Amino acid sequence: MKLVVVGTGYVGLVSGACLADVGHTVICVDVDALKIEKLKSGVIPIFEPGLEEVVQRGVESGRFLFTTNLKEAMEGAQVILIAVGTPSTEDGSVNMAYVESAARDIGRAMTEYTVVIDKSTVPVGTTEWVHSIIRHETSCDFDVVSVPEFLREGHAIQDFMKPHRIVIGTHSTKAINILLEVFSAFQCPKVIMDERSAELTKYAANSFLAMKIGFINEIASLCERLGADVDQVAKGIGLDPRIGADFLRAGLGWGGSCFPKDVRALKNLGDGLGVSLPIINASLDMNTMSRQRVVDRLVSLFDGTIEGKKIAVLGIAFKPNTDDTRESAAIALMQILKEKGADVYAYDPIAEFHSAYHGFDVKIGESPYHIAQDAHAIILATEWHEFTDLDLTRIKQFMADDVMVDARNFFDPVRVKEAGFRYLRVGNK
Ligand SMILES: NC(=O)c1ccc[n+]([C@@H]2O[C@H](COP(=O)([O-])OP(=O)(O)OC[C@H]3O[C@@H](n4cnc5c(N)ncnc54)[C@H](O)[C@@H]3O)[C@@H](O)[C@H]2O)c1
Repeated sequence: MKLVVVGTGYVGLVSGACLADVGHTVICVDVDALKIEKLKSGVIPIFEPGLEEVVQRGVESGRFLFTTNLKEAMEGAQVILIAVGTPSTEDGSVNMAYVESAARDIGRAMTEYTVVIDKSTVPVGTTEWVHSIIRHETSCDFDVVSVPEFLREGHAIQDFMKPHRIVIGTHSTKAINILLEVFSAFQCPKVIMDERSAELTKYAANSFLAMKIGFINEIASLCERLGADVDQVAKGIGLDPRIGADFLRAGLGWGGSCFPKDVRALKNLGDGLGVSLPIINASLDMNTMSRQRVVDRLVSLFDGTIEGKKIAVLGIAFKPNTDDTRESAAIALMQILKEKGADVYAYDPIAEFHSAYHGFDVKIGESPYHIAQDAHAIILATEWHEFTDLDLTRIKQFMADDVMVDARNFFDPVRVKEAGFRYLRVGNK
């Protein structure tokens, strides 16, 4: 089948590449001409493990193409996927400008019956709204279906190829039959429901996972006072299948391009409807507190102030295996350190830090050893696998003081102590 993906970012490019890999012909469209040029010349604009190979396979097969011209791309395509961004606005609501513009463009380019899939994470009611925008532009028959995306950056290919479920939100039998064919290569439950339930499923899923992380961070704050160890508590509860072991890692809390904006969007939805959502509100508060608590503990080791102290931060990306820094907890942490007067240095294997974008200055080093030079404390903020092999004794020798804050409970405590550090872990006295 011929498919078009509108929006060639993390979701659009991965979805397009994987759908081409299972045999469809896919054209990825983007308004960003530079991104399309890069893709046409074989450069992958994002870092995502395994993506390059899948893209390359698709391009070589002749079934995976890129363009900025939506009208041409849509010729003969029965299915269009919308995968444009839906960032937060200042007040926490969702900026729907990209979806609106994509829907309008799709409506204008439509010449025959088309199934429009919304893969972007959008507020409840968007499917109907997108339908009305497209209807305004065309007299063709079409259906709009909500198919939320659940992939995780860093594992996106595996998640797309082996999903736990595919949610299909529509009342149209014709659209369901076409989508079952589109997704026939993916062996997982296809959960068919109404549009609004599908849209809410995505927000509920992300908010539930965010809540789980918030919960274990709350338990971590108790552990720090009681002399218990949060990792042991997490193991003790996680083996109960009713709870599950995933998303029970205490640390700096959640960040990234999805959880923060999606939890805020759900809060905004509740506020707008006058529906009280105390758990959602607490998750947001707990997340902010998790970063603050790490800094407070660090400050307490320096007699109440870190003014003028050099702090070296390992990791900038919001999680390992991605270059995405959107709402990264590492960056939120660095901002608090800067506000407290620290001199902040950072290193990340892939992700970049742009002072102008983030509104404060951080000095970027070439390696962990480089930023450790004369540092008073080192903080592990993103648990990149390559940090496992760090020579901690060497790092400690470069430093002006001896504090290691492991904000992801990543290092082996014995190794850290043997290297001579004063060592702080989250949820551990
Ligand atoms: N990133 C994730 O891990 C993830 C996971 C699940 C769901 N989602 C959701 O998927 C959506 C996309 O997220 P993303 O991270 O891929 O975003 P992104 O910012 O990486 O990519 C969006 C792309 O859309 C393009 N675009 C914007 N308007 C366009 C238009 N009118 N026509 C064509 N292209 C246009 C932009 O240039 C950009 O390349 C969001 O709603 C997000 O919440 C993201």
